[in-house]
Amino acid sequence: SKESKAQEFQERIDNGETIEPKDWMPERYQKQLIRMMSQHAHSEVVGMLPEGNWITRAPSLRRKMILLSKVQDEAGHGLYLYSATETLGASRQEVLDDLLNGRAKYSSIFNYPTLSWADVAVIGWLVDGAAIINQTMLARSSYGPYSRAMVRICKEESFHKKQGYEMVAQMADGTPEQQEMIQDAVDRWWWPTLMMFGPHDEDSPNSAELIKWGVKSKTNDELRQSFVDRHVQEAHAVGLEIPDPDLEYNEETEHWEFGEIDWDEFWNVVRGNGPMNKERMKTRREAHENGKWVRKAAEEYARKQRLQKEK
Ligand code: 3HC
Repeated sequence: SKESKAQEFQERIDNGETIEPKDWMPERYQKQLIRMMSQHAHSEVVGMLPEGNWITRAPSLRRKMILLSKVQDEAGHGLYLYSATETLGASRQEVLDDLLNGRAKYSSIFNYPTLSWADVAVIGWLVDGAAIINQTMLARSSYGPYSRAMVRICKEESFHKKQGYEMVAQMADGTPEQQEMIQDAVDRWWWPTLMMFGPHDEDSPNSAELIKWGVKSKTNDELRQSFVDRHVQEAHAVGLEIPDPDLEYNEETEHWEFGEIDWDEFWNVVRGNGPMNKERMKTRREAHENGKWVRKAAEEYARKQRLQKEK
């Protein structure tokens, strides 16, 4: 019966077993994973846009080559995750349509503008730093294709973070203008990065189910706290300030306590009214339109291949 299958499934999860595409799984588990993995993929693809904006204006050939390879990595992460989502029966076409029609979400962080080169440094350090904390956890998630994709992605993310933090350290130790630029970028990106981890646990409708099924093993607030603990130290190590007057180290808990997030801003951005939401979607729709000829050529090539085989 369905109950006994669900019971058996939960036992597999509780034993720390990995669920593979062909295994029986509750429909809800499948739906949750399609939602989470496809939106993760959308985040990677839209995530190319803020930094891509600076590839033609990188301050040196070395920085240009590093940024080029980072943005190409993000594209690859998107493709792994779309492929992993397909193992759950969600076609690439339908999840892409969901994004382009504005039905699907992607990470709020990519709806902020990249105003100076210092933003590229801070995105590498903070945004990829947040992604590492989140994805290191997801590398242990119960769904095989997802956790395996995360293992590969985490390796590339640590390079992304290192190159970002190297630039942050250099600018923080640079000319007064560079110091001002990098502090300004930290001021603009700090709070939106905290929002990447999602609403507080008590306001997170999906967390309980995802934890029960071993997809998430830490809550939004736990991940956010470890992000703050690590990155406050890294900021202070290079002489940068965190734009939070309530930030205070608690000797007891050994955690940095921090101020309240502006949840109106968060939901505003998630609902599509952030600073750059319209531009990001416009760029994605245009890119999809401009890529139509490639898809047609690939389909025609595949058709000819099939004809060849049938001869
Ligand atoms: N941006 C946009 N939407 C968000 C969000 C954010 N920062 N945080 C939460 N939401 C949405 C959720 O998607 C959910 O809406 P939905 O049910 O329509 O999908 C709603 O707000 C409620 O949030 P929940 O906490 O209940 O949702 P989750 O339990 O799924 O937690 C999450 C949200 C932490 C984003 C989780 O889905 C997750 O870990 N996803 C996988 C990782 C991911 O997507 N990371 C994106 C970062 S970009 C990145 O890593 C690329 C790197 O290279 C920079």
